[in-house]
Amino acid sequence: MSTSVPVHAVEQIVLDGLSKTYASSDGEVIALSPTSLTIEPGEFVAVVGPSGCGKTTLLQTVAGFVTPTTGSVTVGGTPVAGPNPDRGVVFQSPTLYPWLSVRGNVEFGPRARGEKRAARKARALEALDLVGLKDFADKRPYELSGGMQQRAQIARVFVNNPRIVLMDEPYSALDPFTREQLQVQLLELWQRERKTIVFVTHSVEEALFLSTRVIVMSARPGRVIADRKVELPGDDQPGVRSLEVLGTPELAAQKAELARLILEAHG
Ligand SMILES: Nc1ncnc2c1ncn2[C@@H]1O[C@H](COP(=O)(O)OP(=O)(O)OP(=O)(O)O)[C@@H](O)[C@H]1O
Ligand SMILES: [Mg+2]
Repeated sequence: MSTSVPVHAVEQIVLDGLSKTYASSDGEVIALSPTSLTIEPGEFVAVVGPSGCGKTTLLQTVAGFVTPTTGSVTVGGTPVAGPNPDRGVVFQSPTLYPWLSVRGNVEFGPRARGEKRAARKARALEALDLVGLKDFADKRPYELSGGMQQRAQIARVFVNNPRIVLMDEPYSALDPFTREQLQVQLLELWQRERKTIVFVTHSVEEALFLSTRVIVMSARPGRVIADRKVELPGDDQPGVRSLEVLGTPELAAQKAELARLILEAHG
């Protein structure tokens, strides 16, 4: 993947000894063991690990929805004190407002910022077009399938043009065709705008295909067991990775190695 001039001044994310323990009816649950990570501006970081290992917790802490039990998260040197539209979040389950149309949902952010009606409508339709939902702009969320709701949620985040995009298994509910289409679109967007992306997934293949760096977490309580730079055939060529890279022995070898690490960490 070739580099391009950054459009936005993106910022460094630093997790320093970050951990999270939740109180529950059966006592405390350690969701995340102390984790230290630095994510550079413009990186595309994928986080993989078994269910319950703290991936959502980690992402939600960076987003500002979850407060750390120990340690800290800073973005551009400033401690995260709560959610901010500069850190767009695509949640694991779609969270659309049922009383608004699909377009109304996508326009929510621009409207809150006082953007003019015609301009925000045009941008919302553009964002919906990007995820293949332009024809569903006037529908209500309940009239969409789960995968379509998820795509609408993605449009709702990207319309705000956040500098950092935090995505929690955004494509797991999609059919393989739509998933590949959105993966390629995301790579194009990332290359064009060099946003910092943190992308949680269960799929080691998806992690490798999309990212420049994969973080592998152990089973609960999660800790980082591997942190790898991703280089795939064709990365030195202009343009985004092509889906053909999925069939290469290089990708297969890296996939096997990461899968082995995850398996070993399971004990
Ligand atoms: N609000 C909460 N209260 C209590 N425990 C919680 C809460 N949120 C998460 N947990 C617990 O913390 C652990 C990590 O949860 P988390 O949702 O971060 O995992 P995950 O890696 O995202 O899993 P999945 O892949 O299934 O989405 C789990 O054991 C979960 O039960
Ligand atoms: Mg999760």
